[in-house]
Amino acid sequence: MINNISFLCYREALQIRRMSTKHGLAKRFHGSEKNVWVEFSKLASDYKAVNLGQGFPDYKPPSYVTEAMKEAANPSNHLLHQYARSFGDPRLCNALSQIYSPIMGRKINPMDEILITVGGYGSLYCCIHGLVNPGDEVIIIEPYFDCYEPMVKSAGGIPIFIPLRTPSETTDGKLSSADWKLDEKEFAAKFNEKTKLLIFNTPNNPLGKVYSQSEMEMIADLCIKHDVVVISDEVYEWLIYDKKKHLKIATLPGMWERTLTIGSAGKTFSVTGWKTGWTIGPQNLLMPATIVHQNCIYNVPTVTQVSVAIAFEHELKVSNTPESYFQSLPPVVMKKRDELAKVLIDLGMEPTIPEGGFFMMANTEPLAIEVPDDGTDDPKDFKFVRWMIKEKKLAAIPPSAFYSTKNKHLGEKFIRFCIVKEDSTLKAAEEILREWKKTL
Ligand SMILES: Cc1ncc(COP(=O)(O)O)c(C=O)c1O
Repeated sequence: MINNISFLCYREALQIRRMSTKHGLAKRFHGSEKNVWVEFSKLASDYKAVNLGQGFPDYKPPSYVTEAMKEAANPSNHLLHQYARSFGDPRLCNALSQIYSPIMGRKINPMDEILITVGGYGSLYCCIHGLVNPGDEVIIIEPYFDCYEPMVKSAGGIPIFIPLRTPSETTDGKLSSADWKLDEKEFAAKFNEKTKLLIFNTPNNPLGKVYSQSEMEMIADLCIKHDVVVISDEVYEWLIYDKKKHLKIATLPGMWERTLTIGSAGKTFSVTGWKTGWTIGPQNLLMPATIVHQNCIYNVPTVTQVSVAIAFEHELKVSNTPESYFQSLPPVVMKKRDELAKVLIDLGMEPTIPEGGFFMMANTEPLAIEVPDDGTDDPKDFKFVRWMIKEKKLAAIPPSAFYSTKNKHLGEKFIRFCIVKEDSTLKAAEEILREWKKTL
């Protein structure tokens, strides 16, 4: 016979179990509970570390961008404080059409071939959930922006991973993101009749790899051969270094009709808090994403959309002049990249010099640091960054978070630094690295 206390415990246990099945996390999100940004942003703040972790600029956006928001939010434009057109404010859609039509080499229909959503993130979610059926295979190139995997899984898709490979030897200990390459045979073997999508990202997060034309042609040929749709995440498209060129896979022959291209105002204008993104593609391919959008977001804040439109209109006026932010920002960030790389090399880390984007990866293995066990079975880079935040007061991101479970070992000797930071932030980080060197 059970007494009162054990009966109560039994009832509570039963209730908790029921709660966890009936009121707990929906099964399609099981396995996605852990999130690298949540842990490492908190750790950076708790330890007051110099934060080269999460990818946001801490310098001021250009004044014409913040002025654009002032103009849009002006109470005299009172209707801009009401709902926007669901698929995107017409002024922003028109500005995007003007910007991207010449780049795409075709007239982008502003009303039918553009969808505005909540950031690049929202665009990815709408495209993936609009297109993927349970059992569809989705090819993801590693290392990848970490949300691709849970988005594919929650749609019922099966992620098929393929890592970029580095040469086993480097001549001068310096690696460029261009040295990270797909093995063509290994890549081709990932395609089959179940392959629905390829998620492609150039410039890549976390590496900064900017795919070359020949790499893209190889990828495009396989997608055409196997009738695969490409979601091309190009949120860092305007931050390209060393006179490299950003190419759009949608512009290759036979690719417009099978590509959805994603961009982000947050990354474009250094205003990540604005969370406004877009997808461009042929109407039939965009339609599924618009259905997801209208049923889970419906529309994006009007004032923010119009602010982005005004900012693009300004860029259109000054394009190809030194006044253009798209032209003036890359050399500034390149200088930051090179200075940080120099100090990292000096300390004994091996950075991969990015050709574009917000980040730089560095190999910590040559430092041969024995990081104390933190009691978790997480990969080595997680332990390294936790230790670095606590002991050195410097925050980065562990890039094994950008690899599948099977391939985490490929990322765990690296850490990822964000380079789009104020010079004073980078100077503080470099000071820490110089002091660190003295202790070796
Ligand atoms: C590759 C990539 N895609 C998409 C996003 C999300 O962009 P947004 O901030 O506009 O949602 C990010 C943000 O870090 C990213 O790195």
